[in-house]
Amino acid sequence: MTAPTPLIAGNWKMNGLTASLAEARAISEGVSGAKARVAICPPAVLIHQMSQALAGGPVLIGGQDAHTDESGAFTGDVSAEMLADAGASMVILGHSERRDGYRETDELVARKSLAALRAGLEPIVCVGETLEQRKAGQALEVVTGQVRASLPPELLGKAFAIAYEPVWAIGTGLTPSIDEIEEVHLAIRATLIEMFGDAADKAPILYGGSVKPANAAEILHAAEVGGALVGGASLKAADFLGIVRAL
Ligand code: PGA
Repeated sequence: MTAPTPLIAGNWKMNGLTASLAEARAISEGVSGAKARVAICPPAVLIHQMSQALAGGPVLIGGQDAHTDESGAFTGDVSAEMLADAGASMVILGHSERRDGYRETDELVARKSLAALRAGLEPIVCVGETLEQRKAGQALEVVTGQVRASLPPELLGKAFAIAYEPVWAIGTGLTPSIDEIEEVHLAIRATLIEMFGDAADKAPILYGGSVKPANAAEILHAAEVGGALVGGASLKAADFLGIVRAL
């Protein structure tokens, strides 16, 4: 099995104004020699300007969500084609803040993944258990169930990534133990191989949830961890670069 190229993606969530492009430039200037592909997923309205500001540099740009349809009467939504047109090459889908806050189901996330493929974007599909589910011993069952139901068969042979983000670790400063992370990542890899065969070796499985420079090296070197999805610590170039350099 060939290890997939790691991916370290910053999820800016609903943070960032035009002035934040300076932070993105600092990230771009600092990532040379990185052992991972590095991406920033800013708010949709910044994608176009950021892709122009970072043009020709090493940093990839992604969206944080996409509608299932290419266009139409969906007030407030943004399509995968629009993200691609603005300069994105990837898109986060099924983040727990969307599953929870907008009632996104696995089935909807699978349809959004198809939309990403249609637009030529690499989907980063998020999965993760709640604290109640972990305490009830259901973490593996919940996460592998989400993987099975959120990834359409059409992803076979296409570039995609999974992000394992325990809901209770997001923005809380809490992280699972390395053993717990490895257990879930190994279960996700086994599920991907069941679904897609050997082609699944190429999909990186990112860890997300309170990744910071201080814990990045340990997490990034854990078994089957193929990078990180970073929220809060991706907003400051120094912190995000500290994570990138930990690999
Ligand atoms: P955090 O967020 O790094 O701030 O915990 C991660 C995420 O939600 O992707």
